Amino acid sequence: MVDRACRIGAKVLGYPVLGEDADLPGLIQRHAVQGLVAAIGDNARRAEMVERIRNLCPGMPFPAVIHPHACIGAGTVIGAGTVVMAGAVIGPDCRIGEFCLINHLASLDHDSVMEGFSSLAPRVATGGNCRIGAYAALGIGAVLRHGIQVGEHAVLGGGALALDPVEAYAVSYGVPAKKIRERKLGDSYL
Ligand SMILES: CC(C)(COP(=O)(O)OP(=O)(O)OC[C@H]1O[C@@H](n2cnc3c(N)ncnc32)[C@H](O)[C@@H]1OP(=O)(O)O)[C@@H](O)C(=O)NCCC(=O)NCCS
Repeated sequence: MVDRACRIGAKVLGYPVLGEDADLPGLIQRHAVQGLVAAIGDNARRAEMVERIRNLCPGMPFPAVIHPHACIGAGTVIGAGTVVMAGAVIGPDCRIGEFCLINHLASLDHDSVMEGFSSLAPRVATGGNCRIGAYAALGIGAVLRHGIQVGEHAVLGGGALALDPVEAYAVSYGVPAKKIRERKLGDSYL
């Protein structure tokens, strides 16, 4: 793995730290790397890093990474670079864009859509036919009623219950969820 915040030679979860992102072109050649995973939780930070790596290593694939204990319904399509973690359940005929993050035990019900770089924190639950806009982040345990649309770059706080559409570029939370304030592109939420 590569991580600017770690010392080269350190181990993280048993994986040796080989360098930082700037070292990737050389490391890819030396280790015959076939694909990369952007393991960054914050949606905007993940997008910045993917863009940087695409410039450094053009054409390098980012496969979707799906834990063997995730359940994926028939007809669901998952985009490149998306990470689906243990215990996640994705219903049938969903469309998941590129570089999304679907965390432990999150559940996305049938015919729902996640646009690129959006995320579900652990134990998020949605009804069917929901649409989660690009870069939107649903906080831990948040719930969407069926058919709810979440605007791009929105943040829905932990434990929120969205019964109405969630405005783009807004932080909303509560039961039922209400808009609390605006947010700017890339504002941190973790
Ligand atoms: C919504 C969120 C981004 C707001 O963060 P914030 O603006 O920094 O809010 P603060 O922590 O400063 O809290 C401000 C007030 O809002 C309340 N508040 C914050 N998040 C809340 C939530 N989700 N539900 C209800 N109240 C909340 C706080 O209790 C506090 O109330 P107070 O002023 O009466 O003390 C954040 O709380 C959140 O839920 N982030 C998601 C985190 C997550 O899912 N992590 C798991 C990732 S794997």
